[in-house]
Formats: sequence, structure tokens, C-alpha cells
Amino acid sequence: MITATGPGRVNLIGDHTDYSGGLVMPMAINLSTVVQGEPGGEFVELHSSDEQEPAIVALDIEDPSTITPSWARYVAGVVSELRPQQGFKGTVTTTLPIGAGLSSSAALEVAVALALGFDGTSLELAKLTQRGEQRASGVPCGIMDQLSSASGVDGSALMIDCHDLTVTAVEVPANCEIRVIHSGQARELAGSAYADRFDDVTAAQVVLGPLRDITTLDALSALDDERLLRRARHVVSENARVRAFHDAFRRSDLVSAGRLMVQSHCSLRDDFDVSTPVLDELVERLCATDGVYGARLTGAGFGGCVVALCQPGAIDEGWHVTPSSGAHVNS
Ligand code: GLA
Repeated sequence: MITATGPGRVNLIGDHTDYSGGLVMPMAINLSTVVQGEPGGEFVELHSSDEQEPAIVALDIEDPSTITPSWARYVAGVVSELRPQQGFKGTVTTTLPIGAGLSSSAALEVAVALALGFDGTSLELAKLTQRGEQRASGVPCGIMDQLSSASGVDGSALMIDCHDLTVTAVEVPANCEIRVIHSGQARELAGSAYADRFDDVTAAQVVLGPLRDITTLDALSALDDERLLRRARHVVSENARVRAFHDAFRRSDLVSAGRLMVQSHCSLRDDFDVSTPVLDELVERLCATDGVYGARLTGAGFGGCVVALCQPGAIDEGWHVTPSSGAHVNS
């Protein structure tokens, strides 16, 4: 019997920066997905208590994006990248909300890969499952979600440089609590809007070169397209905010960290256009609450969850998430 666990992640700061090789600061969390079962047979067959139909995937699956039910695509994406020698039969259970911006799909992918016998470093696991997700969903997602799930560190957030793919653990200050609150808004159209943002960032980089190398906003004046200018301004300013947040966390300066989170939210709202009125209102309400240092949308946006940095006990809604170790397998 094999038991493989993939944690979800919450991104504290640095959104829509990973696919241009920028900086992100997520953490793996204490909500996770577990795949349990036994190897053998010609198919990967997984039954989930949250889904009506099982995922049944042939080992020689060609196109993971077309199989049904839709959750089986993530399993199929991993199978198509890993090409295991034998099948697997088992169950999937999760404590993560599905499709809420906490990387339930990445958690499933890394747990499936480990259950199917993946043997390599956490970076290799992240790269394989990122390719699996891209094949399954057709969305050109970055590496943050899979890398956070694969390389989480108990008690720490992760400073990830998405260009050289280094992961540095940054201890979460003891005197704070991190809360995740669902906006109640499903992330409809998130896939196509995400691809549009990816295209905008790519187009801005054709003119400016790698955005991760730009350190002053003056350099953006070479862009004459107003929309591309705003996209680039978000990415360049967000990379700077991640650096500043990292420094604030290391000095346990939660007031500055919270302020940077709010600035990040405003940039995602005004320059990157990935927020919604529901998310904006939730962030505003949380920030007006005593003991909340800051809040922002987390992940791709377009609905889903907000993350808040608080004094312990300041709010009791949502999930109290704690920084957790990365994906692992017990057999
Ligand atoms: C999704 C993607 C990540 C990242 C975030 C936005 O979660 O899977 O790669 O781009 O959106 O930061």
C-alpha cells in the first residue's frame, strides 16, 4: 500500500510573476491531497469521495486534455509525462477546497506522480507535474504551484526565484497568523484570461527584454501600448514588492509586510486586471478589521481566495493555514 501526500499552497506575495522568471513567496500549507492505493494493472484508476465518477487513465494516454470526468485530466497529464511501467488502483481524498486558488490541481498532480513511483528531486517533480498540468488544461501555467507543493518546508514560506529555480526557506514570524478566506466566487474563465495575461507579458518582453531584469519603472516608457505598459508595471513592481516583503518578514516587520500585500492587491486589480469587485470588497473589509496587517487575492485571481496576514486571533473566518513540509510518500 502506497500513501502519497501533496500539500496545497497559498501565495503570500508575487502573483503573475512566475512565468516571466520573476520572484514569488508562497508556502505549502496544512491542507493537502492524499492518494492511497496499490500499484498494478494496465490503468491508473482513482476514486475520489468528492467526485461522482472515477478517473480511469490508460498508461498510453495520448491527449490528457480531452478525457472525462474533467478532474481525471490532471491524473492523465501526470501519466502522460511520467509513463509509469504499471498502473495503480486507489483513492483520492483532500482537505483542500477545489478550484479556489490554493492549488488543488498541483497537490493532486504531485501526489499522483509520487504514488506512481516518481523518483527524483523536488524540482524535477515540479517540472514534470507543471508539464502535466499544461497538457491537461491547455493553460500555460508557471511553476510556482507545483514547486511549492513539492518543496514545502515546515514553519517556513518559500522565496522562489523562478528564473534559476532556487528555493530559499524564510521562517514565518511567530507572532502572526495567516488566514485564507474564500470569496465565494468561482474562478470562471480563469484559464482563458490567464492565457491572455501570459500573452501580454510575452509581448511586453519582446519590446523590453526580460522583465525580471528591470528595476526601474522609467525603463517601461519604451512601451507605447497602454495595456502592455500596465501589465509590465505590475510584474516589475511586484518583483520589487516580493523582495521588500522578504526583508520585512526576516525582521518580523508585519506592518510593512501587510502594507506590501495590499499594494500587491491594488496592482493586480488596477494594472493586471485579475481582481473582481467581490475580491476587492473582501480585501477592503478584512483590512478594516483590527489586527489585520494586510490582505490580497492569492493565485491567479478572477475569484477564489484572499490571504490575510493577521495578529493571532484577529479574525476567525476562513482557514488558519500553517507552513508545511512538501509532498512525500510512505509505503
Ligand atoms: C496560477 C498558476 C501559477 C501562477 C499563479 C499566479 O496559480 O498556476 O503558475 O502563475 O496562477 O501567480
